[in-house]
Amino acid sequence: MHTELDTIVLNQRCDSPMVSKTLETARLPNIPVLSVSVKDAIKQKLDSISQLKWESDQENAFVVGDIGEVYRQFLRWKALLPRIEPFFAVKSNPDPMVVKLLQSLGLGFDCASKAEIQIALETGADPSRIIYANPCKQASYIRYAAQQNVAKMTFDNADELYKIKKFYPNAELVLRILTDDSKSLCQLGIKFGAPLDTVDHLLQTAKDLDLNVIGVSFHVGSGCYDQYAFSEAVNLARGVFDKAEAMGFNFSLLDVGGGFPSADVTDGVTFEKIAAVLGPTVDALFPPNIRVIAEPGRYFVASAFTVCTNIIARRSKINNEQPSFMYYVNDGMYGSFNCIIFDHQVVQPHVLAKDGHFAYGEELEEKHYECSVWGPTCDSIDCLNKKTTLPLLSEGDWLYWNNMGAYTVCSSSQFNGFKSPEILYTNTYC
Ligand SMILES: Cc1ncc(COP(=O)(O)O)c(C=O)c1O
Repeated sequence: MHTELDTIVLNQRCDSPMVSKTLETARLPNIPVLSVSVKDAIKQKLDSISQLKWESDQENAFVVGDIGEVYRQFLRWKALLPRIEPFFAVKSNPDPMVVKLLQSLGLGFDCASKAEIQIALETGADPSRIIYANPCKQASYIRYAAQQNVAKMTFDNADELYKIKKFYPNAELVLRILTDDSKSLCQLGIKFGAPLDTVDHLLQTAKDLDLNVIGVSFHVGSGCYDQYAFSEAVNLARGVFDKAEAMGFNFSLLDVGGGFPSADVTDGVTFEKIAAVLGPTVDALFPPNIRVIAEPGRYFVASAFTVCTNIIARRSKINNEQPSFMYYVNDGMYGSFNCIIFDHQVVQPHVLAKDGHFAYGEELEEKHYECSVWGPTCDSIDCLNKKTTLPLLSEGDWLYWNNMGAYTVCSSSQFNGFKSPEILYTNTYC
C-alpha cells in the first residue's frame, strides 16, 4: 500500500495552480530559482564558469539546492503520516529557501536556540507553530521565547523547571523522555532525555511549581535504522501519559521527535517502513484528541542538496607498481563535509566533469584507479574519502557529491580561509 502511495506522490507534477502558487510564494526575493533538473542547473553553472575564464574564485565549490525535492518529501510525509504534523528541525539546514517553502506549506518548526526561533518567526511562522525543543536552555533565550509567545518547550530535568518557572511560568512544557537510541547513527540519549524512573519526580516538581506540562517528547536518535525504535518509544510515552493523568495532568501533545531517514535511503529501514509502524501505533495508543507532532530534519533536506567540488591539485603515487592518486578538492571536512565527523556520514564522489566533458549521472567506462579525496585545508584530518576508485582525473576536473543537504553547510567553518560554498536553487517539481 505504501509503495503505491509513494509512486503517486513521486510522479505527481505541479499542474495544479495551487501547487505552483505555493512554490512561487516560497521564493525569496532576490534569490533566483531555476526550473530545471539538478543536472542542468549544474551544467549552467559550469558553462558560466568557463565563460569567465580568468575571474578569480571562478572554480569555487558550489551547491545546488532542489526545493522541488523538499516539496516531494512534504507530499510523501502527508501521504504516509497524515496525522503527525511535522515541525521541521531548523538545525539540520536553516537554508532560507527551505525554511520559507516549509513555512508556506504550513509546517511548524523545531528550534534549538534564539537565533533559530528568530529565523522561524521572520519567515512568518506563527509562534504557536514553534517548539523550542532544547531541554537545556539559556535563561535569556527562555525570556525571549516568552516575549515572542513561543510557549511550547521541552525539558528533561528539575533544574530546568525552576529556570522556566522564573522566566516563563506560563510555558507549555513537553517532557522529553529517554528512549532506546542504540539503533541510530547519532545517539542523543547520553545528553538528553529523562530516564523513566525520574518521571514521577519531574511531574511532581512541575506540579509543585504550578507549571503547565502538556505532553511528552522523545528522540530515537538521528539516522534511525530501526522502525521499531519509534513504536517502542510511543509505547513508553503512553505510559508517561497514563502516569500524568493519574497525577491530575491533562496531556494533549505527543512529539515523536526526529530521526526519520531521507529519500536517499531506499533499502533497509526506509521512511515508508517507519511510517507503516509508527502511524498505526500512534493511532492505537492515542485517541484523536491528542495532537501528534514530529521534529524531522534530515528527512526533508538530505537528498535535496548536491555539492560540486573542483579538483585543485593532484598527487600521483605508485603502490605495488600500481598508480594511485590523491585528489585535493576545494570544500572539505571543515566545510560542508563536516558531516563526516559530526554526522557519521560516508560520502562518495562522482565524476562531474573530466577534460571538459560533462559527466553528471554517467558511469564513465574507462579504467578506474585507486585514489583518496582530500579537502583544501592544511590539516591531514581533512580527508573526504580514504579509499575509492575513480577514472584518471586532473586538476581542473570536477566531482559531485549527492545527499549533502543535512548537517553540512550549516555547520561548516571558514578554517584556513575557505568560505562556505555558494548555493544555487532549482525546482525540479515542475
Ligand atoms: C531535539 C531534536 N529534534 C530533532 C532533530 C532532528 O533530527 P533528524 O535530523 O534526525 O530528523 C534533532 C537532531 O539532532 C534534535 O536534537
